[in-house]
Amino acid sequence: MKKEVFLGIIVFIAVVLNCNNGRADEFTKKDLKKWHKEFMTVVKEGERLFHSALGKNKVSCDMCHPNAANTHPETYPKFQKQIGKVVALRDMINWCIQNPLEGEPLKLDDPKMIALEAYITYERRGKPLSPGRH
Ligand code: HEC
Repeated sequence: MKKEVFLGIIVFIAVVLNCNNGRADEFTKKDLKKWHKEFMTVVKEGERLFHSALGKNKVSCDMCHPNAANTHPETYPKFQKQIGKVVALRDMINWCIQNPLEGEPLKLDDPKMIALEAYITYERRGKPLSPGRH
């Protein structure tokens, strides 16, 4: 057998084996439905928080960002002049909690932070990713 043919067969086998590995991740329609339901529960919680007074004053996110307008999640990470460096969406969520809302910043893994992110990104779904854009 020629060396090229032999190498070709090896590559082919490797690809086939890899596809088989991929099959281990198959999921059913029932799984998808369950996971989407869980996701939407978190989105709903985010929506509730977005319309609540999270800080020490009576201000809520929706007063300045109705339906998550002007939150531009698709542009993160990006340089924000208020913070002076390249930050993630969650850093701006905390910036708004601390400044307009006069509250305490959320821990980055706080379920409330995840929920706010889920709501904001879900509201802006379908926008092409454009990290760094202003
Ligand atoms: C009093 C008005 C006001 C309120 C209330 C407010 N924000 Fe903001 N928000 C701003 C301003 C001003 C900016 C800065 C705009 C900029 O420089 O990009 C901003 C920026 C943001 C950004 C980044 C937007 C971008 O274009 O990069 C996010 C995300 C955000 N706010 C989320 C929130 C969340 C979540 C809340 C509630 C916890 C909230 N904001 C409450 C005024 C507000």
